[in-house]
Amino acid sequence: MLERIGHMLVRKANQEEKRPVFDEAGEIPRHIAVIMDGNGRWAKMRNLPRIAGHRSGMKTVKEIVKAADGIGVKTMTMYAFSTENWKRPREEVDYLMKLPQEFLSTELEELIERNVRVRMLGNPEGLPAHTIEAMNIAEERTRHNTGLQLNFALNYGSRTELVRAFRELARQVQAGTIQPEEVDEEMIARHLYTSDLPDPDLLIRTSGEIRLSNFMLWQMAYTELWFTDVLWPDFTKEHFYQAIAEYQGRARRYGAV
Ligand code: FPP
Repeated sequence: MLERIGHMLVRKANQEEKRPVFDEAGEIPRHIAVIMDGNGRWAKMRNLPRIAGHRSGMKTVKEIVKAADGIGVKTMTMYAFSTENWKRPREEVDYLMKLPQEFLSTELEELIERNVRVRMLGNPEGLPAHTIEAMNIAEERTRHNTGLQLNFALNYGSRTELVRAFRELARQVQAGTIQPEEVDEEMIARHLYTSDLPDPDLLIRTSGEIRLSNFMLWQMAYTELWFTDVLWPDFTKEHFYQAIAEYQGRARRYGAV
């Protein structure tokens, strides 16, 4: 049984199921960015190697992608590997590089059935060939899908992305194809990996860390930020719905009153 309290629906069927859920008639964020943090700590708490945390985190990705698709989110961007993550131990980096393949080997058919479009955001240079190939196949096979757009930020760093854009614009100015005065926000946005995507409405970061870690700094100028102490492998669709409920309770003013 659902009881309406304010804008939220609270499930009352039995006490253990009592939880706030979002308003299905309310605004669903179009684009949700996710920093999937806490895999290492999750593993450590269980005396497992860090890669076991990432493996478990991959299962969470599956669940959250389905949940997002089920409620009509248009774009999800998952921070899977940052330009800073190369500093991790070799074994862990190797494992993280295998995850896209592993994920896609079991999920791609279902993603295709669900009309999901998969894309990679980030710098392919430096990624192992097998990682690029897995992403290329997924991108190619889902290219014409019109449902949820699922982006994996891989070898992604916001500052690197901006440097790349500014260099390209500097080249165009040098070549005389544009004037410096023509460079505006819209032109910069068009030179980012996210050129054809709306900015994220909501950022979710797990594991109690309250920072952006070089993730979509330009794009998140007006994004609502939502943090939880829950570690990514423990994050469930109920937590996801809670984030959306809280998003729906916020007033987005974009600098106005
Ligand atoms: C941060 O946790 C997590 C990562 C650097 C990797 C995230 C990747 C996944 C969840 C799997 C991705 C799945 C696919 C399909 C590509 P951490 O290791 O920094 O955790 P810690 O802060 O507790 O050490």
